[in-house]
Amino acid sequence: MTTTQQFDILIIGSGTAGLTLALHMADHARVAVISKGQLDEGASLYAQGGISVVLDKTDSIQSHIDDTLLAGAGLCNEEAVRYTVEHARENIEWLIDQGVTFTRDGVTSETYHLTREGGHSHRRIIHSADATGREVETTLLDKAKAHPGISLFPYHIGIDLITSQKHLKETLNKALGCYVLDIEKDETKTFLAPVTVLATGGAGKVYLYTSNPDVSTGDGIAMGWRAGCRVANMEFVQFHPTCLFHPRAKSFLISEALRGEGARLLLANGERFMQRFHPRGELAPRDVVARAIDHEMKRLGHDCVYLDISHKPATFIKSHFPTIYKRCLALGIDMTREPVPVVPAAHYTCGGIMTDLQGRTDIPGLYAVGETAHTGLHGANRMASNSLLECLVFARAAADDIKQQALQAVTADVPPWDASQVQPAKEAIAITHNWDELRRFMWDYVGIVRTNKRLNKAKQRLALLQQEIDEFYSQHHISADLLELRNLADVAGLIIDSALLRKESRGLHYTLDYPAADEQQPARETIMLPES
Ligand code: FAD
Ligand code: SIN
Repeated sequence: MTTTQQFDILIIGSGTAGLTLALHMADHARVAVISKGQLDEGASLYAQGGISVVLDKTDSIQSHIDDTLLAGAGLCNEEAVRYTVEHARENIEWLIDQGVTFTRDGVTSETYHLTREGGHSHRRIIHSADATGREVETTLLDKAKAHPGISLFPYHIGIDLITSQKHLKETLNKALGCYVLDIEKDETKTFLAPVTVLATGGAGKVYLYTSNPDVSTGDGIAMGWRAGCRVANMEFVQFHPTCLFHPRAKSFLISEALRGEGARLLLANGERFMQRFHPRGELAPRDVVARAIDHEMKRLGHDCVYLDISHKPATFIKSHFPTIYKRCLALGIDMTREPVPVVPAAHYTCGGIMTDLQGRTDIPGLYAVGETAHTGLHGANRMASNSLLECLVFARAAADDIKQQALQAVTADVPPWDASQVQPAKEAIAITHNWDELRRFMWDYVGIVRTNKRLNKAKQRLALLQQEIDEFYSQHHISADLLELRNLADVAGLIIDSALLRKESRGLHYTLDYPAADEQQPARETIMLPES
């Protein structure tokens, strides 16, 4: 017997995007937020640098737009960029109203410290020291917990969206909710709602090395794709240049804000190298810095490069970067005295489920917000600290759109989750092995520098894996690991196929077979159409 629950809005994911949308809607509707782990777990919690917003008198909206377009390498949707940048300030003010505390500049009690990051031509990043995401996520979560209009469901993982075409065989498609696995009870549930929102974050875990937390397995992108949404620009995976290189440091980022405050990238012999690659040196756009590090590591056969801020006063380092300082010190690295070993790692999924400026997807009643969505803001390369901003701006835009609708309960006779044909899995090794294999070949063949040969190798490996996964999925009880593996495989397929379609290098997609941008044709997005 499957439990069925009915809400006005079902939000899948409790990161910045999901919680922002929930809070904007909670006075108007009965909102459910499901989250596959602890409620605060997600990329949002680990965001360090901050959120971009024009506050400085010497800065301007146009300058923020121009920087974003330049980083996006000709592929941004200008309307989405302008919309985001113009709405930044009011969304930051909303965060402050919720109780989020940002670091002050010490000049007046009114003004905030703004830091700098790659691609930005001005100081434009508002932040809470070096743990901005933790401040935002925990504040929003506390608010959501206290609101009677929001029901929170931790350890509930979305399996697949329920749609009228697929599950009721109707001609007109509409989202009706989601099948959900209650991980703690090992029970499958049906969540029904006239509006469903994908807010499941990115897919960094598709790569062996990533700054992302374990929950970032691209579930929303895979679920939306399987349900019939178009997906765009999946070849543009951003590799953050500086993740801590240490055997005991799992996915720990060394914020770009260090470079914004003067940190230098060094080779093992102490030589600075970024000026050889870009006039902006350490503050070149992220794709350039990550590729330069990759190049130097491969050229010299080194395992890492170094990031050095030790020339700055120790008091400055400890007050601006307390989280990073403490984490490094716990691992025996004193960044006030010595350089920090760093490597690039998969960091951000620029592509995703295609939406309009209200977060609407191709399926009526289905929205996508945050890193899961492709709004057109980032183009071929996201500029630093534009992501949390996108979560805030588009979650609010989606809420405004949903508020215009009469939310009528789903009355259709939705079939319960069918587990009658499957058996308990005897062993988990097939799942673990396939997780590891997938993430390794994605790192080796679909990483920072690509070739057609490598991409085709990855495609072949994936086809074999996908067969095994489909077989296992159709015969065995589901588990969170199996669901995530299935999603990772779908996302890997979208990345590989999109990369094979792009016969040029642009932004984050760099291939030795076509090392330059194709200037003969207008820049275009890579749009993957769902199989019917
Ligand atoms: P997330 O915060 O990742 O939340 C996703 C949620 O969905 C989680 O609750 C997860 O459990 C849930 N979920 C996933 N799948 C399912 C499922 N199947 N069922 C149920 N729940 C599910 N951006 C900036 O702008 N500034 C920064 O300074 C910055 N620093 C960063 C530092 C790090 C280390 C990382 C990893 C990213 C950083 N980013 C930064 C990027 C930014 O943090 C993310 O893009 C943003 O937080 C994404 O928010 P989100 O709400 O879309 O997803
Ligand atoms: C960082 O602090 O370096 C991450 C910023 C971002 O990804 O936007």
